[in-house]
Amino acid sequence: MHEREAVSPEADVDELRIEGALRPRVLDEFVGQERVREQLSLVLHSAQRRNRAPDHILMSGGPGLGKTTLAMIIAAELGAPLRISSGPAIERSGDLAAVLSTLQEGEVLFLDEIHRMARPAEEMLYVAMEDFRVDVVVGKGPGATAIPLDIAPFTLVGATTRAGMLPAPLRDRFGFTAHMDFYEPAELERILHRSAGLLGAPLDEEAAREIAGRSRGTPRIANRLLRRVRDYAEVRGDGQLTLANAHAALELYEVDELGLDRLDRAILDVLMNRFRGGPVGLSTLAVSVGEEAETVEVVAEPFLVRSGFLARTPRGRVATPQAWTHMGITPPPDAAFGAAQAVADATGAAGTNGATP
Ligand SMILES: Nc1ncnc2c1ncn2[C@@H]1O[C@H](COP(=O)(O)OP(=O)(O)O)[C@@H](O)[C@H]1O
Ligand SMILES: [Mg+2]
Repeated sequence: MHEREAVSPEADVDELRIEGALRPRVLDEFVGQERVREQLSLVLHSAQRRNRAPDHILMSGGPGLGKTTLAMIIAAELGAPLRISSGPAIERSGDLAAVLSTLQEGEVLFLDEIHRMARPAEEMLYVAMEDFRVDVVVGKGPGATAIPLDIAPFTLVGATTRAGMLPAPLRDRFGFTAHMDFYEPAELERILHRSAGLLGAPLDEEAAREIAGRSRGTPRIANRLLRRVRDYAEVRGDGQLTLANAHAALELYEVDELGLDRLDRAILDVLMNRFRGGPVGLSTLAVSVGEEAETVEVVAEPFLVRSGFLARTPRGRVATPQAWTHMGITPPPDAAFGAAQAVADATGAAGTNGATP
């Protein structure tokens, strides 16, 4: 599904390099997330005034909203070295001990996808975060002993797309949690103009507005669509990033006028045509569109819920009346189930940052 990849909020290896080049380096260049920026700036500055490593920081939010970017900015603002690892890379507590015991004083340790860390490592991390100590276990079985080892004071920056999956003891050890929300169209326009400048491809105002409106509130998608528009303009157009070229490119990549992509529409399509609008459980829905449940839940759903197309009810996912209208499908008479309920849920859920309870 090449088209899907073209707009997927998950980064693929090829595009990571370009993505890196487009990353803002300092807090002032980081667009939007006003509140997070202010809170973070306070945390960092007060730590610097006290000449101490700042509290551990957790960043939660969907893919492509700027978590990795902020982690790098934190280290840069502190003038501290940065060590990068991730939950899935830490399979055994020994892996974590190796990282922790070689940290320098004041180093920033970025753990991406921290909710995927193995259990025993998690427990080691609690102690390290709180007491700057690791207990290294020597030997096996009944004769095993734990040797406490002091480690340098460091700042953990954790990122997660699923804050709800973090065990409470871990969540509680972060001094500050930054909740990253979807971006406003105007913010995405600013990001697009900045990126276009860095790519050396000046962007028309209307083209920027058009791309921003279809970026699902997500900078990574905005930047990616920008590159698709640039490709199109170079190969098929006159090289100018104009509204006409933007329209044509976005149509080619099957991004609709509200930013719904193939997966979004596949979900709504299955929900309406196979399940009469729902309710249907997440895993059934995921199997029906050939995706992992987590992909549906983390990548597609938050935007569908926020746009008022999908409601999460206790009995399952439901297509809202707006969704039927947008997809141009007439609901069957009995699909009226919970139409009112769905609207209530959609509006109720819209403010929750897409988190699943
Ligand atoms: N606030 C922002 N301002 C400018 N660019 C941003 C912002 N947030 C994200 N980006 C861009 O979007 C891309 C994805 O951001 P990233 O930090 O990797 O997201 P995440 O780690 O949350 O998945 C990067 O290329 C980055 O340049
Ligand atoms: Mg990231």
